Amino acid sequence: MDSDEEGEEYLFKIVIIGDSAVGKSNLLSRYARNEFNLHSKATIGVEFQTRSIEIDGKEVKAQIWDTAGQERFRAVTSAYYRGAVGALIVYDITRHTTFESVKRWLEELNTHSDTTVAKMLVGNKCDLENIRDISVEEGKNLAEAEGLFFIETSALDSTNVKKAFEIVIREIY
Ligand code: GTP
Ligand code: MG
Repeated sequence: MDSDEEGEEYLFKIVIIGDSAVGKSNLLSRYARNEFNLHSKATIGVEFQTRSIEIDGKEVKAQIWDTAGQERFRAVTSAYYRGAVGALIVYDITRHTTFESVKRWLEELNTHSDTTVAKMLVGNKCDLENIRDISVEEGKNLAEAEGLFFIETSALDSTNVKKAFEIVIREIY
């Protein structure tokens, strides 16, 4: 690989959190590699991918971390959050329990983060409109109450995936 290390002036750590099966790993693979897996397995431990974008002529590199929504598959929590300057808190618009968990994920994030974190509330799977369980309004209201950005995405059909990450990256920058 022929990379111009000198050109990479910014490196931001972003974490993705939310209940199991909301689509965290697929949002990441869609954004970083333009890939989607209909039969992805639950994440065990921690994985990360990087993607660079150009802002104001500068190369900004986002290192995006993904972990398991299931407690028993999670790695050391404090290490996961350490140094993060951005976060995507994801729920599944077809499963209300995942929306109810958002507050708990926010508490964990706030407990472990050491700096100001740009936060995006993400309602994923918006392609499943016919079985929607949380309205756009409910999502917006929660985001407003908690001081988060808000967006609905689909890792399956790519709706707003790039936008979700890049709003956070630009806010950090
Ligand atoms: P854990 O690793 O267990 O925390 O789950 P996760 O949040 O990483 O979920 P994952 O990305 O593995 O996706 C779970 C399931 O939802 C998979 O079957 C995906 O194919 C599916 N899925 C993810 N995103 C979408 C989406 O936008 N639309 C639809 N219809 N399905 C999705
Ligand atoms: Mg996963």
